[in-house]
Amino acid sequence: MGDLRVGVIGCGGHAQNHFSMIKNEPRMELVAVAEVDSDRLQKAQVDHQPQFIFTDFRQMLDQVDLDLVYVVTMPGHLLPIVLECLGRDLHTSIEKSPGMNPKEARQMLDVAQQSKGLAIVSLNRRYKPEVLAVRKLLQERGGAIQVSANYHKPPSGLRQPGLREVAPPEIICDAIHHVDLLRWMSGRTPTEAAQATEVYAHSWHGDREGTPRYNAIMALDTECKQQKFMPKTCRLI
Ligand SMILES: NC(=O)c1ccc[n+]([C@@H]2O[C@H](COP(=O)([O-])OP(=O)(O)OC[C@H]3O[C@@H](n4cnc5c(N)ncnc54)[C@H](O)[C@@H]3O)[C@@H](O)[C@H]2O)c1
Repeated sequence: MGDLRVGVIGCGGHAQNHFSMIKNEPRMELVAVAEVDSDRLQKAQVDHQPQFIFTDFRQMLDQVDLDLVYVVTMPGHLLPIVLECLGRDLHTSIEKSPGMNPKEARQMLDVAQQSKGLAIVSLNRRYKPEVLAVRKLLQERGGAIQVSANYHKPPSGLRQPGLREVAPPEIICDAIHHVDLLRWMSGRTPTEAAQATEVYAHSWHGDREGTPRYNAIMALDTECKQQKFMPKTCRLI
């Protein structure tokens, strides 16, 4: 039985990956789940067999002793849940994107900085073996001079009624993975990501509904080692 008592809030599609990870991690024990949808809650109970189930996540936090919580709701539902978990000093894993906009992300960050619980945004692509291998090669050779990313997605449904209320535009909700990888690939140390110091960004509509275009160039705080006067830049097209 694991040392870490785990709760999961939101038992939809992506939560199933977290359930598998928890099951395969001997240091963790799934103790409780919370889900507002009764069918999904029952399915999670049958499939994953937590000790306790709740429709109200606050009741779960009140009644069950937990060490860490995975919050796997859509971005538009995250803020009150995340503030509550971190306010109770629980270690809290947050799905991307961290809220609907920078203001919500800032609110979560402020509470995370006050909390005794650790907060992590689940930007899982950082830890893919091929990403880690390329990053290691880059660092062994003195670090990246320039990194660039292209992100293409078919016409997106994120602006449709029902989704647009709980998911921000693609550049925040989806391309966040690639912005994160650009920062991660440029990090100085094995655990550090670079910080953007300047951003030049432009967006425009594509020919069809739901086909926005974005382009950005960022300067990062990690200076180029080989060419001292050229700041590292990264580009997202
Ligand atoms: N990192 C990745 O690669 C990756 C991949 C897919 C999805 N995601 C992210 O995962 C998140 C969830 O996506 P999904 O596809 O599982 O969505 P989903 O709609 O299938 O599941 C979300 C669940 O949260 C539940 N919920 C909402 N408010 C709640 C509350 N207050 N208490 C308890 N449960 C509540 C909903 O009823 C729903 O079942 C999204 O933010 C998405 O961006 C990340």
